[in-house]
Amino acid sequence: MKKVIIGTIAIFILMAFIPLNKKFKLDRSTSVVELQEVLGTDYRSKKPNTKVRGVKASIGEDIVKNGFSKRKGEKKSRRQSKHFVCSSCHNVKKEDPNLLHPTPEDRLEYAVNKGLPFLQATTLYGAVNRDTYYNGDYEKKYGDLVKPARNDIRGAIQLCALECAQGRKLKDWELESILAYLWTIDLKVGDLDISDEELASLKDAVDNPALHNEGLRLVASKYAKKSEATFLDPPADRKIGVGLKGDVTNGGRIYEQSCLHCHYQKRYSFLHLDKRALSLNHLDSKADTYNNHSLYQVVRYGTFSKYGKRSYMPHYTEERMSDQQLADLRAYLAEGERIDY
Ligand code: HEC
Ligand code: HEC
Repeated sequence: MKKVIIGTIAIFILMAFIPLNKKFKLDRSTSVVELQEVLGTDYRSKKPNTKVRGVKASIGEDIVKNGFSKRKGEKKSRRQSKHFVCSSCHNVKKEDPNLLHPTPEDRLEYAVNKGLPFLQATTLYGAVNRDTYYNGDYEKKYGDLVKPARNDIRGAIQLCALECAQGRKLKDWELESILAYLWTIDLKVGDLDISDEELASLKDAVDNPALHNEGLRLVASKYAKKSEATFLDPPADRKIGVGLKGDVTNGGRIYEQSCLHCHYQKRYSFLHLDKRALSLNHLDSKADTYNNHSLYQVVRYGTFSKYGKRSYMPHYTEERMSDQQLADLRAYLAEGERIDY
C-alpha cells in the first residue's frame, strides 16, 4: 500500500515538472505577447482577473458582438447599450495590412478584399498589444476622462462603454470577460512583417538570454504601439471642398464599407441610406452646405448625442479617413451610379 502511495506521489511530482521542460515553440502562429514574455516583458497586470466569478472569453465576445451575455446559473444581463454594440464601431479582425505604418488607403483596400467595414474606431484586434489608448486629439473630445484610459486598457474599455457606446457601466465580470476576449484576438507573429531570417534570429534570442533585448527591439520595430488620432475640420469653403479631385469608384467603395454599415436599413441609426437616387441625391444636395446632413460635417465632426436622443455618429480622424477619401466620397455622391434595387 505504502509503495503505491509513494509511487503515485512520485508520478504527480514528475508531471508537475513536465510543463516546465516543454520548449517554447516559436513560429508564425505564436502570440507576439507570449514571445515578449519569454524575452522578459511582464504583461501580468494587463491580463484578465480570472478570480472574478464567471469571467470567460466567450462571455466577453458575446458582449462585444451582441451587447449582453449570461453567467452560468444567472439570467441574461441587461444590454450594455440601447444604441450600439462594440462591433458597430470597431472591427474585431486585423484591418491594417501594415501594422507599423497603417494608412486609411491601405485599410480601405484591405477592407474591400476581406469584406470588412471601414470604421471610425480602431480594430480591437491587437488592442492588448497597444501601450496607450485614446491618443492624440481624443483628449480634446473627452478631456480629463481620457486620463484613466490613456495608459490602462481597462479604463479604455470602460470609457468607451460609457462615452462611445452611450451605455451603462460594465460590471467587473463583464469588463474582465471583455479583456479575456481581447486576449484571444491579440497579434500573432505572422501578422508582423517578419522575414525568415528575422524569425530565425528571434529563435536564437529565445534560446540565449544575452540576446533577449535585441529580440524585443526587433519585435517592437514591427508594429505601432498606439493608434494615432488627428482631428480635422471640414473644408473651410464647402463649395470648393477639400481641393482634391475625387475618384468616383473609390468613393463608392467608401460609401458601401462605411456609411451603409450603419445606415442601411437603419442598422445603428434612424437615418436609412442606400444606393438609390433618393439617398444619393439627398446627400449630394446637402454636402456643400452647412446643413447637418452635409457629408463634410458628419465625417469630420460627427453628430452629438443629445438628451433624449443619445445615439450619435462618431467622426472620422485623418488616420481613419483621409481628405482624399472624403473627396472620393464627394465625387461619388455627385456622379456615382444610382441603383434601383
Ligand atoms: C459609437 C462607436 C463606438 C462604440 C459603440 C464603441 N466604441 Fe470603443 N472607441 C470608439 C472610438 C471613436 C474610439 C477612439 C479611439 C480609436 O479607437 O481610434 C474608441 C476607442 C476604444 C478603445 C481604445 C482603442 C485605442 O487603441 O485607442 C477600446 C479598447 C475600446 N474603444 C473598446 C470598446 C468596447 C469594449 C466597446 C463595447 C463595450 C466599445 N469600444 C464600443 C468608438 C466606439
Ligand atoms: C458607426 C456607425 C456609423 C457610420 C459608419 C456612419 N454613420 Fe452616419 N450616423 C450614425 C448615427 C448613430 C447617427 C446619429 C443619428 C441617428 O441615430 O440617426 C448618424 C447620423 C448621420 C447623419 C445625420 C442624421 C440626422 O438626422 O441628424 C448623416 C447625414 C449621416 N449620419 C451620414 C453618414 C454618412 C454619409 C456616412 C459615411 C461617410 C456615415 N453616416 C457613416 C452612425 C454611423
